[in-house]
Amino acid sequence: MRWGRAHPPRPAKVARGRKEVAQLAGAVVVPGVTTAAAIAGQLNAAERRLVTEAIVKAPRKPRVVLEVGTWLGGGSTLHLLRALEQNGEGHLWGIEADRAIYERMLANIGSAAPEALHRFTPLFGFSDVVIPKWLAEQGNDFLVDVAFLDGGDNPLEQITEFRLLDARIPVGGQLLSHDAKLRKGRWVVPYLSALDNWSAELHDVSEEGLFHAHKLRASPSPESLWGAEKELRRLRANPVERLGAFLPQPANAFLLRFLPGRLIRRITQGRR
Ligand SMILES: C[S@@+](CC[C@H](N)C(=O)[O-])C[C@H]1O[C@@H](n2cnc3c(N)ncnc32)[C@H](O)[C@@H]1O
Repeated sequence: MRWGRAHPPRPAKVARGRKEVAQLAGAVVVPGVTTAAAIAGQLNAAERRLVTEAIVKAPRKPRVVLEVGTWLGGGSTLHLLRALEQNGEGHLWGIEADRAIYERMLANIGSAAPEALHRFTPLFGFSDVVIPKWLAEQGNDFLVDVAFLDGGDNPLEQITEFRLLDARIPVGGQLLSHDAKLRKGRWVVPYLSALDNWSAELHDVSEEGLFHAHKLRASPSPESLWGAEKELRRLRANPVERLGAFLPQPANAFLLRFLPGRLIRRITQGRR
């Protein structure tokens, strides 16, 4: 369904390295100095703590962390980054699809966590384009220890991101996703929960919900894979999702223009 994909696809541009991040951010990088600047970000205090603990309490310090949907950087991005810095190990790649937001995020991270910038690589573009390109650049042995999914509202996106990443997540790796109780997580949460090679938990700590899964074995049993795929087919048959996927994006955008904001959020995000 295309309600949630508000921005036209653009070619993925990969900005690399601390220097470029600092330049784009207009930040002065002073090693060892932390600014306490508060920058805009989502996730409530409990969710920020859970995201931080996923990194600092992991049995093996995560080396590779991927985030989809940084927004302005003050939520998941900053907390993941600070947690990696606390561990003294690991790197975060953060994907963002909106150019204006991406540039503001770079400025925010540059000013709020200059000491951790060397652990951050921003990736511009849509996740379904950026992830395959990024993985191909890293080589076949590259593993993703932690993935945090918080991009668009279309539930197919988190399924696509999971399918792109699953084979690269090792046993012991983690997958977290935000808006787990909303439309965004409506497919990936039951799908992953049905796979018996993952242990899954939905933290009911906000209206949005935070999902946290740990990989237990490399592959699911055939029975649980069959059950998960069956459940996904059932969810994908939802008439509202099918209608949104069927209508061209401009038609969806046109229809939404006539609806009140609260109703738009109910349709696009699945809020009550
Ligand atoms: C809910 S916000 C993320 C909030 C952020 N994680 C935080 O904690 O503050 C979703 C972000 O994902 C971006 N986005 C939407 N679809 C995307 C996609 N397919 N790939 C990458 N980013 C996407 C949006 O532009 C938006 O900035």
